[in-house]
Amino acid sequence: MSEAHVLIRGGRVVDPSRRLDQTLDVLLRDGLVAKVDEKIVPPKGAEIVEAAGLVVAPGFVDLHVHLREPGYEYKETIATGTAAAAAGGFTTVCAMANTDPVTDDAPTAAFVVRRARETGRVRVFPVGAVSKGLKGEELAEIGSMKAEGIVAVSDDGKGVQNAGLMRRAMEYASMFDLPVVIHAEDAGLAMGGVMNEGWVSTRLGLAGQPAAAESVMVARDVQIAALTRTRLHVAHVSTRESLDAIRNGRRHGVDVTCEVTPHHLTLTDEEIARSGYDTRFKVNPPLRSEADRAALVAALADGTIDCVATDHAPHHSDEKALEFADAPCGVIGLETALPVLVDALLVPKHLSLMRLVEVLSTAPARLFGLAGGTLAEGAAADVVLFSTTRSTHVTPDGFQSKAKNSPWVARTLKGRVERTWVAGHEVFARGGSPAVKG
Ligand code: DOR
Ligand code: ZN
Repeated sequence: MSEAHVLIRGGRVVDPSRRLDQTLDVLLRDGLVAKVDEKIVPPKGAEIVEAAGLVVAPGFVDLHVHLREPGYEYKETIATGTAAAAAGGFTTVCAMANTDPVTDDAPTAAFVVRRARETGRVRVFPVGAVSKGLKGEELAEIGSMKAEGIVAVSDDGKGVQNAGLMRRAMEYASMFDLPVVIHAEDAGLAMGGVMNEGWVSTRLGLAGQPAAAESVMVARDVQIAALTRTRLHVAHVSTRESLDAIRNGRRHGVDVTCEVTPHHLTLTDEEIARSGYDTRFKVNPPLRSEADRAALVAALADGTIDCVATDHAPHHSDEKALEFADAPCGVIGLETALPVLVDALLVPKHLSLMRLVEVLSTAPARLFGLAGGTLAEGAAADVVLFSTTRSTHVTPDGFQSKAKNSPWVARTLKGRVERTWVAGHEVFARGGSPAVKG
């Protein structure tokens, strides 16, 4: 399946790390990008991939996924979650800590690293918890987890309510040169709300959580990051006021970055009404208003938002079949990210192709200091080949993920991932065979 040499011929090479956008050949050799040039003579025995009409880019990097192993293997495993990643063009993913046991100590972090090496199809880096058991009471073993390879700390899934604990976490994290990733949610304001608070929640008779439940925590943590001189990364930003707090922090020299999900960029709370309380639209933070959605798109284009992360959150269909108020939050996103962004942002020209690749690959790699995000000669051969003109028809049976909780099921979207390589090894090929000319 994998070849020592792969020549990807005649594709449109888009590499934001060098602002390169040109029709070129790319040679992968011994796990590295060996050469990017016009008309490369194929080495003997090389596999040749005809890429005319397709985009060749550095593999995508997702800073925020839930792989559910250990503990929730009925929802997803590292094997199935990374197969989904490969099918979506992702070559590196960061696995959140809300597993069972929680990744809050060295042995659990080491387990994730080892399982990923044994069963993973793409590179996996664990994110360690901020607090033991995600309880928000005692700090997790940040230093010893760092020794096992965590790349950030986060209690994602829950907000850290105690500002004093957050301060200590930031102090520790900066000692170990780790970013702190926040799930910004004030529990008192959110008050168990199951969707965005507003006109739609009122109409539907569902308890809402206000946008302020997110933005007050972003504002708080920006200030604590200033106090502790820590790198702060805001997960799944979803409101205009959060963007204001981030911009304000930057104006004051705070090292704050943020990510946005494909669902918050493209869907609003109206979907819950339109679909008749369909739990595939239940996520945390909740889908917001159209004004928030439009502001997120503009902020991604203007650089306020640094990158896209999927928050891939697989759940079993029996769980999602519960009533709206009782169903778990989350959507799967790895296999649809590229088509969703091509269809909703690239085609209508809200985002350039260069920026699209940057927010999916080069920028996230840089934020967490991960290899990848570049096709520079000598870099790891983590590569994705995709089409911006072919379509993806999203079906429940078409996922590599164990889960099917995608809001885009039954939709046909422009954009399609054709092939993915990690360290020069093919980890995904559409239809199991080489891509053909488009
Ligand atoms: O929608 C979500 N799902 N948001 C989170 O914060 C957690 C995640 C999960 O783990 O299911
Ligand atoms: Zn998450």
